[in-house]
Amino acid sequence: MLNFSFKNPTSIHFGEGKIAAISKEIPLNARVLLVYGGGSIKNNGVYEQVVAALSEHTWFEFSGIEPNPSYDTLMKAQQIIKAERIDYLLAVGGGSVVDGAKFIAAATLYKGNDPWDILAKQQAITEALPIGAVLTLPATGSESNGNSVVTRDGDKLAFSSPLVCPLFAVLDPKVTLSLSDRQISNGVVDAFVHTIEQYLTYNVNGKVQDRFSEGLLQTLIEEGPKALSPATKEDVEIRANIMWSATMALNGLIGAGVPQDWSTHMIGHELTGAFGIDHARTLSIVLPAVMKVCRESKRDKLLQYAARVWQLNEGSENERIDQAIHLTETFFKSMQVPTRLSDVDLGMSDIDIVINRLEQHGMTALGEHGDITIAKSREILTQAV
Ligand code: NZQ
Ligand code: ZN
Repeated sequence: MLNFSFKNPTSIHFGEGKIAAISKEIPLNARVLLVYGGGSIKNNGVYEQVVAALSEHTWFEFSGIEPNPSYDTLMKAQQIIKAERIDYLLAVGGGSVVDGAKFIAAATLYKGNDPWDILAKQQAITEALPIGAVLTLPATGSESNGNSVVTRDGDKLAFSSPLVCPLFAVLDPKVTLSLSDRQISNGVVDAFVHTIEQYLTYNVNGKVQDRFSEGLLQTLIEEGPKALSPATKEDVEIRANIMWSATMALNGLIGAGVPQDWSTHMIGHELTGAFGIDHARTLSIVLPAVMKVCRESKRDKLLQYAARVWQLNEGSENERIDQAIHLTETFFKSMQVPTRLSDVDLGMSDIDIVINRLEQHGMTALGEHGDITIAKSREILTQAV
């Protein structure tokens, strides 16, 4: 196992009715800004529950954070933050809202001239407003990690700091019942690929991390399709298992002490930036191609994945790997997400655009070995056509 330091500071309040816990988590003397997205929280009862929980607090609101939150929208929050002397952010929504709140929290107390530098130049932040989160879409793990992804003019960039990790997160699986099938699918696939990025690398004898990861993958494979099936889609227990899996997939636990890949995400971000494809749908297209192109460097872990996640123990090594990749694609198809560029009307002629963007963003040595060069990314995208 590799050396590591691990700390996750987010208090989790999990279960039906837990939104009420906000009232005790946020100090009564705080001046709170409730930040949210396009209004889904006003149609599913979440807004009312949050307002009730904040009845003793002084609070204001900022809405309109869009999926793949934009820098320009997020910077608009500075006006109300200054005017109302806001000192606490409450993010209520999916990953985009939570990520957006993290950037707002960092930009408010940023010492440099241009907050865009936090993303574009990876300028370190030294302070940020405290954040609490009410999660409405299980997918990103943003409710319990320090990552944030922000888009400006098609450039989709990330920053990470423990200073923006939410202090608490409310996870009520019941509020996910209002999600569309598309968002449920996206969430399950995103959480699945987060787990794979930290698992499918090379073996360092991280037994706890591996078995946690395999448990998450199996849970998502079992429960994901049930959340889409008319017979079981209203089952809150299924939603609960998906929700907790998504948080655990990217709260730092399974990635501590093991190598990590993230090439699928980095290539995927360029597909979203260039063509506007949903985050998870870029991952379901890129991951099978990464598995195929990197099958030699990932061979041991692919065999472990085949045996422990898919119970493939018969046949030659290559047959087991082929079958594990095929079953991964079959799982993605059962989640109704694309597995090829052609499924989203892209082809060979679009690859250059993605390659240019990878180069422009310095994504020239991806993967757990840093050996996914531009040429290899081209091979992956070609494989994905
Ligand atoms: O904006 P509203 O009206 O709330 O609607 C949202 C949005 O349109 C809707 N929604 C959310 N909860 C709902 C709901 N609709 C009905 N009922 C509910 N309970 O869903 C739509 C998509 O929401 P979004 O927040 O964009 O989805 P997601 O949670 O998948 O977040 C995606 C963003 O997170 C980034 C992605 O790149 C993307 O920008 N990521 C963040 C990561 C992190 N912080 O660690 C890691 C990920 O890999 C990812 O990159
Ligand atoms: Zn992701």
